Amino acid sequence: MFLNEANLFKHVDVNQFNHDLLYWFYQNKRDLPWRKTQNPYYIWISEIMLQQTQVDTVIPYYERFIKTFPTMKDLAYADEETVLKNWEGLGYYSRARNLQQGVREVVEVYDSKIPETRKEILSLKGVGPYTSGAILSIAYNVPEPAVDGNVMRVLSRVFMIDDDITKVKTKKHFEDIIYRLIPHTDPSGFNQSLMELGALVCKPRQPECLTCPLQKHCLAYDEGVQHEFPVKKKKTKSKSISYIVLIIHNSKKQVLIEKRPENGLLANLWQFPMIEIENDDQISRGEQIITEHIKDVTDIEYTKKHLTHQFSHLKWSLNLFHANLLVEDKTWERGKWVDLCNLELFPFPVSHQKIIQMLLSRINGK
Ligand code: ADE
Ligand code: SF4
Repeated sequence: MFLNEANLFKHVDVNQFNHDLLYWFYQNKRDLPWRKTQNPYYIWISEIMLQQTQVDTVIPYYERFIKTFPTMKDLAYADEETVLKNWEGLGYYSRARNLQQGVREVVEVYDSKIPETRKEILSLKGVGPYTSGAILSIAYNVPEPAVDGNVMRVLSRVFMIDDDITKVKTKKHFEDIIYRLIPHTDPSGFNQSLMELGALVCKPRQPECLTCPLQKHCLAYDEGVQHEFPVKKKKTKSKSISYIVLIIHNSKKQVLIEKRPENGLLANLWQFPMIEIENDDQISRGEQIITEHIKDVTDIEYTKKHLTHQFSHLKWSLNLFHANLLVEDKTWERGKWVDLCNLELFPFPVSHQKIIQMLLSRINGK
């Protein structure tokens, strides 16, 4: 249920709320690399990286990324493959491709100046309401909301909002609340302080209410029900897909890799060829399945190596096989023969990077 706005704000003194929150923020904020800059391009990069990835993981990627692509022009005209290589391991690779396309638009349409209105920023590839609000507020100090999961957690507790936070309508409701709260004197500090409070104090499992600067404004704390917020519809269990992963060797001590399709999951990343199977039990007839799919391979050997990778919405279950090539110089659509020592030059999904590490330790170990 949405409380109407008048009731919602009856219990908070907006000035006191902002004073308590911002005072805490400037005393306690972490010293993060993207907090040393107001360059909107760098803020953009950091916010895209931070959307689905933890701060500690993002830091080294961010540092390397801005070194590799120090200006928007550097990123706009870089090879997609170089961009993906610099994103390798961060996941959600469409973020990297969209960022590059968005930056290219800014270079070409806006003369390399990131626009300062919500409408224009929102029109850029890969930029949604959250990113647009984050760039506008943090880089340009425009009082726009930037509502992410941390912010929704904090506000759902402070105002005891029990609407499902996975719904777009709920997120809009939080944006309306922020428009009412955000001080025009420091939009950047305000938005970051809510994110920071969510990360450091008002944490998902063990909120540290006793030291929280918002304690005296917090309805959920008052009622002792902070653990019941935010309300989030349970995800349906993600489905699992099993694959045979084939390491195909030729007589020149090379292996075959192929580029994934241009669209969809892990688009344009490289991988070892994979064959989808019904379930992992099918590996007992792995040899038969492989020869049905791929002609001209021989010496098929199951490595007994199995690994899994969890994506947000599905799980990969990978079963590793080796095989040799019967016909030299077999060509492969979107495929490439690569020396083992050069595999690391290509961008791979994390699960296939692990396979590369296994292969390299196998040859180094022998
Ligand atoms: N999460 C998302 N944006 C962030 C920021 N600017 N600082 C810290 N954590 C964040
Ligand atoms: Fe979160 Fe507790 Fe602070 Fe309320 S008092 S905002 S529940 S940490």
